[in-house]
Amino acid sequence: MTIAYTSDLHVDSSKENARIPQAILRILKEKKPDVFIITGDICHSLKTLEEVLSIFKSLSCTKLFVPGNHDIWAHGEYTNSYIKYYDLLPKAAKKNDFIPVWIEPYVTGDYGFCGSMGWYDYSFKPENLNISENIYKEKIYEGYTWMDKIYAIFINDEKVISDKDITMLLYKNFIEQYREISKNVKKIITLFHHVPFREMILHRKYPVWNFFATYMGSDCFGDFLIESKKIELVLYGHSHIKQQKKIIRPTMTHPFTVVSSPFGYFRSEGLRPESRWHRERLSFIEV
Ligand SMILES: [Fe+2]
Repeated sequence: MTIAYTSDLHVDSSKENARIPQAILRILKEKKPDVFIITGDICHSLKTLEEVLSIFKSLSCTKLFVPGNHDIWAHGEYTNSYIKYYDLLPKAAKKNDFIPVWIEPYVTGDYGFCGSMGWYDYSFKPENLNISENIYKEKIYEGYTWMDKIYAIFINDEKVISDKDITMLLYKNFIEQYREISKNVKKIITLFHHVPFREMILHRKYPVWNFFATYMGSDCFGDFLIESKKIELVLYGHSHIKQQKKIIRPTMTHPFTVVSSPFGYFRSEGLRPESRWHRERLSFIEV
């Protein structure tokens, strides 16, 4: 099975980013994968997200999607990220022939696909920054703001849900899915937006960079995956750094590959000619 995957198209961030969907459609038509996967961060607007997903309607392959933090941002008429995640985005995906994998896992032959947007519970906070948890909750450091503070607003039963509770909720959803498909398949491929393994986090000598790495993901998803006997491949997005690593920990039953292939923002992650960027950030893998 050939899987094409990418993430972090951010089509609303520049004219170069806006050109990505049509460019990768051309590559997908040429390479004809069996499965095409986007692991989040298409854009803020639900209307634009639907337009992007609809561009791939002519492809006959199976299309899978999980949203990223930018996709769930409370934006325009939509003021609740919880409703976007559980209701509006699954409908938008289905309407455009993408399977909303975080709601409905997908099984084909021996393989099962399940996933989650993932979130952060501050478990990735840097060890050498001795600051209180309230600062991480505030999402402001040295004059910089992590913009989820303003736009990621999860409200359920009229209460705003904390980052730790969002992480736990999504983690429970994910485990239920995993257990459901695990009975029927030999191998599992997981799709996340946030980073499930701290091994994939790049720390630098700048405290500001390391502070904001806290919002890259959470240990809980990775700690669950390493116990799994069926994981074959883990895909994620969010960090805007293209990476591929074998995760090897002492308690693992078998090592498996963890991969990201994000576009990110053209101004900081783009390549010229743009065709090079498109070929590099739309990745193909055989399983
Ligand atoms: Fe992103």
